[in-house]
Amino acid sequence: MKKFKVTFYPDKKSVEVDEEKTILSAAISAGVHIDSVCGGDGVCGRCKVIVRRGEVSTQPSGLITNEERKKNIYLACITTIHGDLEIEIPASSRAHFEVPSGVLNKGLEEVYAPSEEIEPLSVAVDEEIFSHSPLATKLYLEIPPPELDDKVSDLDRLYRAIKSKKNFPLLQTGLTNIRGLSELLRRSNWKVTVTLGKRNDATELVLIEPQDTSAKNFGLAIDIGTTTVSVQLVDLISDRIIGTRLTYNKQASFGSDVISRIIHAQKDNGLEELHLAVTECLNQIIEELISEHNIDLNDVTCVLCAGNTTMIHLLLRIDPSYIRRQPYVPTANLPPTIRASEAGIRINPRGLLSCVPGVASYVGGDAVAGVLSCGLYKEEDLGILIDIGTNGEIVLGNKEFLVACAASAGPAFEGSGVSSGMRATSGAIQSVKIDPKTLRASFNTIGNVKPSGICGSGYIDLLAEMLRSGVMDKSGKINAGNSSRIRKGASGLEFIVVPKEEAGEDILITEADIDNLKRAKAAIYSATSVLVKYINFDFLRVSKIFIAGGFGNFLNLENAIFIGLLPDIEREKLIFVGNSSLAGGRLMLLSSAAMKRAREIARKITYFELSVEPRYMEEYMAALFFPHTDFKLFPSVKAG
Ligand code: FES
Repeated sequence: MKKFKVTFYPDKKSVEVDEEKTILSAAISAGVHIDSVCGGDGVCGRCKVIVRRGEVSTQPSGLITNEERKKNIYLACITTIHGDLEIEIPASSRAHFEVPSGVLNKGLEEVYAPSEEIEPLSVAVDEEIFSHSPLATKLYLEIPPPELDDKVSDLDRLYRAIKSKKNFPLLQTGLTNIRGLSELLRRSNWKVTVTLGKRNDATELVLIEPQDTSAKNFGLAIDIGTTTVSVQLVDLISDRIIGTRLTYNKQASFGSDVISRIIHAQKDNGLEELHLAVTECLNQIIEELISEHNIDLNDVTCVLCAGNTTMIHLLLRIDPSYIRRQPYVPTANLPPTIRASEAGIRINPRGLLSCVPGVASYVGGDAVAGVLSCGLYKEEDLGILIDIGTNGEIVLGNKEFLVACAASAGPAFEGSGVSSGMRATSGAIQSVKIDPKTLRASFNTIGNVKPSGICGSGYIDLLAEMLRSGVMDKSGKINAGNSSRIRKGASGLEFIVVPKEEAGEDILITEADIDNLKRAKAAIYSATSVLVKYINFDFLRVSKIFIAGGFGNFLNLENAIFIGLLPDIEREKLIFVGNSSLAGGRLMLLSSAAMKRAREIARKITYFELSVEPRYMEEYMAALFFPHTDFKLFPSVKAG
């Protein structure tokens, strides 16, 4: 097959591509952005480009006026390449994905700019092996050409060839694919690769490419948290995780919790701003992942996204306002599978996006994905999944029943809203010990590099060690003492964990930070406690507690109990599972059986509304102490 050079202006980026590729596909390979809201179906008219030089062929479209035709304007998605080209992309075809300047608060842009590579937790949390059947599959076909005694149409011939390899249910495809089909089949000598995507119970013929591209098929598992966004690039053929990156959710510029985001979405242009902020984060990480691993964006064919209900509404640009109005009903718990480009996610423009089904306004697909990945839904005895995040979610149950609630914990355990907080990435202090005599802290950082801040697991250790060494009392007040490690700051006393001589700048914890962390741990503990009491149980009869959250690969469970974040039960019952939402999303990306199971889980979970439960506030107030005002609940801590 012939190859041609395509140069895009004003970027001045060139790429060499096979003849017959569309201009849109060449732009993606070159890393140049062209709007493609309809995913290349030729119906949105957003992908207009000017062909300055070279030979192309296109399909008729009512979206191009006669005037535009005379100016050599084409729709990039339905125009194929037949020679070396120079293409100009007008500003109107690149505006959609760009976050308007001023959308993000100054300063925060800098903070949010870099994403970072992380190692996903290697613990296999679910023993059940879901069969390999990814959201999008590639099949290489060598199709017998038509003969006088075999005159079925080209499309039926293609379907027949697909079904001879695998019996996909209900095959369907769009008009854009059909229009170009006859030419493509003949030019490629009847050798093509089809990408088949799942759309609920049907299979869509998403993409038809000349020759054999079946060895390259990638997908993305995404977890959109209120504070942190994680993206995992997965090889859909080998199921191998290629890379995982995370960054802060840029929406935090508009408020740290889901309620403040919903309020912002109701302002003029607010919904658009929030939508752009999150898609900007995602596209940035996706670009970093694919360039780092030398992958063509065209070979990324699908995305599976988990997130709380508000995050999914904002990603899909759905008005979330009824989530916070009585009786707290979301627009959709199970949005349909769509083209990723419709949500502004840049992968192959015809690639698919599916979201993990949610349960209710405050218990979303992230909780469902967590239950799926840790296997709570098939436990014989009663278990609990505690997902410690800004919007903390707790699910309790077993194979018979599941009940869930949400607690607004704030972002402190995700390293946000606290003086020296940071994500669980390279340079984050993840464990701490304090010498009770000198008050010097010894610590361990992720990646064993110079410390830059403290992540959630580091804060859990730090609080526990400050209690043990007497730096802090049980109410969270720092004891003045006469150590150079404790000083008076702008908002009360603060404890210096690592002085600036060692870290470049002081890494410290203030009383205001302690207060934030105390409120977060009280919200999580009291929500779990109320849920257990709601079904007339107690912690001691629970067989397993899965603890999830963005803590990196380390969490000191003993210390989590010591500060009263987790209940005081036998240690072997506590299982740290890392980011269970991302792990569940990946399972669904790779298996339709997992997808089906997630839908069953979402239907099975009963939502328990904590805000109307009078016991909750009482429990919360009682938990605003380390570990708790009722010491009988923490016998091992008392004994220690
Ligand atoms: Fe080309 Fe929509 S018309 S992407």
